[in-house]
Amino acid sequence: MEVFTDKELMRRWSRSVRAAGETVALVPTMGALHEGHLRLVELAAREADRVVVSIYVNPTQFDRAEDFAKYPRTLHSDLKALEGSPCKAVFAPTEMYLPGNTTWVTVDGLTEHLCGKTRPGHFRGVTTIVSKFLHVVEPDVALFGNKDYQQRRVLEQMVRDQDLPIRVVAAPTVREPDGLAMSSRNVRLDPTARLAATAIPKALDAARAAFDRGERGVAALSEPVRQALIAAGGTIDYVEIADDQTLAPLPSDRHVAAPAVLAIAAFFGGVRLIDNVALH
Ligand code: PAJ
Repeated sequence: MEVFTDKELMRRWSRSVRAAGETVALVPTMGALHEGHLRLVELAAREADRVVVSIYVNPTQFDRAEDFAKYPRTLHSDLKALEGSPCKAVFAPTEMYLPGNTTWVTVDGLTEHLCGKTRPGHFRGVTTIVSKFLHVVEPDVALFGNKDYQQRRVLEQMVRDQDLPIRVVAAPTVREPDGLAMSSRNVRLDPTARLAATAIPKALDAARAAFDRGERGVAALSEPVRQALIAAGGTIDYVEIADDQTLAPLPSDRHVAAPAVLAIAAFFGGVRLIDNVALH
């Protein structure tokens, strides 16, 4: 496995692979790799001949300096974990932005809903950095997890609107045995908050079960989720049912009539967690 910190060397590797007739898949990450990331890498290996994983804690997507400072950085063990995976090259730049960077990539509409409401500038940071990675690595395929559903949709839109010759593949959410979605932030949960956070997958499962039984009322599906998260000691950022393409929230007096996603963001023990379930 090759490890690149330099953009030009990374690009050269990727171009030589493609010149030899092989395809390249990119899995962008911020490191602190867990099983969810590694499954994404395995999926990537089925989508292309060579897999590149990027590891970079992107400062421009953090809306709180404290969150950026506290983000786990575990490059040594990340590289170890990737050694046992189908990953062929790691791109781990120390810096991605040139001094005085003033260029941003923004996606309108989709970014105004859900996490976009309470995390100003977050998606601008995500789209800008992923755009940069796509220009450096020039992959044929890029993979993103559905755990970050809005992020995946926003990046699909960016690739489409910018005519990038890249296929975007979505990967299912990987969960802990008790249902909590795997996340690099989970290590910051103290034991009490970690236990309480299992209310998230339980509430989403219950909503999904109600949907499967035929319940279509937006309030009837989302209110019990809201109540369960509060009862568990969580602080809600949002609980919304949204159109699964536009991400426009459905008003609480409506019914789910088209493919939708029930998405939540909530704080447990001061850690912001997100999760979602498909309603279709
Ligand atoms: P990060 O949180 O490290 O996630 C990297 C990729 O792994 C994302 O596509 C994310 O959706 C996916 N992922 C994380 N947890 C997952 C889980 N439990 N199951 C399945 N996939 C999961 O998302 C980012 O980094 C950054 O915003 C990034 C796109 C790299 C831009 O900086």
